[in-house]
Amino acid sequence: MGWGMKNRLARIIKPDTGRGVMLAVDHGYFLGPTERLEVPRKTIQPLLPYADSLMLTRGVLRTSVDANFPVPVVLRVSGGSSIIGKDLSNEKITTSIKEAIRLNVTALALSIFVGAQYEHESLINLAKLVDEGEEHGIPVLAVTAVGKELEKRDARYLSLACRIAAEFGAHLVKTYYCENFEKVVSSCPVPVIIAGGPKLENEIDALQLTYDALQAGAVGVDMGRNIWQSDFPVSMIKAVRAIVHENASVREAHELFSQLKNTEQSTKTATSV
Ligand code: 5RP
Repeated sequence: MGWGMKNRLARIIKPDTGRGVMLAVDHGYFLGPTERLEVPRKTIQPLLPYADSLMLTRGVLRTSVDANFPVPVVLRVSGGSSIIGKDLSNEKITTSIKEAIRLNVTALALSIFVGAQYEHESLINLAKLVDEGEEHGIPVLAVTAVGKELEKRDARYLSLACRIAAEFGAHLVKTYYCENFEKVVSSCPVPVIIAGGPKLENEIDALQLTYDALQAGAVGVDMGRNIWQSDFPVSMIKAVRAIVHENASVREAHELFSQLKNTEQSTKTATSV
């Protein structure tokens, strides 16, 4: 691996812990104004200091993130279908490598849809993106299994999808947590991070998910809704960080969350009067 590629990966997976907290705010590219991400800048800004990296589209990056803030950007460069369209798996590469370089991104992200109608196209998109990434020293994050494919949320399907992503040259794979997750991680020769998925009922459930994924070998999270759809997003991202970077137990992280949320509540109250 070349120096540039290594250096960029080290901005995402921190060398001191070997782990990373990526904040996912790319949902609008197929979901539109997702709940609590209606005004991206408002959602993103308070969380930025606690994110090791930020995953989003160029549109939200340009309009809603201050260029002076030094957060590593993982740019989503695939899309082309919406939640109300015919088939979410029908994606193409939507942002050129030149544009990604102009935006000074740290990594490129693209979805693959193993088992879906457009499986082939999405895998060829990945192959092309990896070739371009390699040329410029920019790592590629492959996102596995969204939409209908998520119904197959088991170790057999997710291992298949993650392994294929790695075989195509992805440098990092994002997938969903499932039972026997260690099988998914051990059969994937590149680092695996997990998405949080739809908002779980309680924060402790998302902290448990994070903890279990790391125990099974994941190197971090690329989490969205379970952070910014919480009533206390800043407390939540800090609690997630405690598990990822400080090896906190679920109980410790939840205690931290409970303490921090009181301060977050007072700040909210003070700014609303
Ligand atoms: C969708 C994505 C999202 O970034 C991913 O699902 C992570 O967000 P969440 O934790 O809300 O699931 O890549 O294709």
